[in-house]
Amino acid sequence: MKQIINLTINDKKYEVAVDANLTLLDLLRYQLGLTGAKKGCELGDCGACAVIMDGKPVNSCLVLAVSANGKDITTIEGLEDENGLHPLQQSFVEKGAIQCGFCTSGMILSGKTLLDKNPNPTDKEVRSAISGNLCRCTGYQKIIEAVQSVDSDI
Ligand code: FES
Ligand code: FES
Repeated sequence: MKQIINLTINDKKYEVAVDANLTLLDLLRYQLGLTGAKKGCELGDCGACAVIMDGKPVNSCLVLAVSANGKDITTIEGLEDENGLHPLQQSFVEKGAIQCGFCTSGMILSGKTLLDKNPNPTDKEVRSAISGNLCRCTGYQKIIEAVQSVDSDI
């Protein structure tokens, strides 16, 4: 039996009917067509599915959609605006912090959560913020540089 939930995603309000065992990740990807959050391990280990929920990064594969009722969610699709890429997205491009891209949306959302609280993080603070996000391609250093080199006014 489906349950009706109401949530806000990228400043847009949604009312959707979901199965009790549906994850937030599957709601985003398969019911709402927001495929920026990636499906990696589905175990909470890789961070590829990370989104921001009420200001905190969460692994959406571990969140039931019904638990997101009433929540405010930001996905990678919500960062770009009419002026183009978000400065953190632009920084990832300019620093070469993207290779296959599978980890990128989660990395950027973890980085954004940090920068929203702390616009000038240290190397250690960035490493801590992205510690739940695995990248098999970049070696992490360019990702750290990308987070640290964003204009503080984001
Ligand atoms: S897919 Fe969610 S943490 Fe890996
Ligand atoms: S760029 Fe490929 S996993 Fe990070």
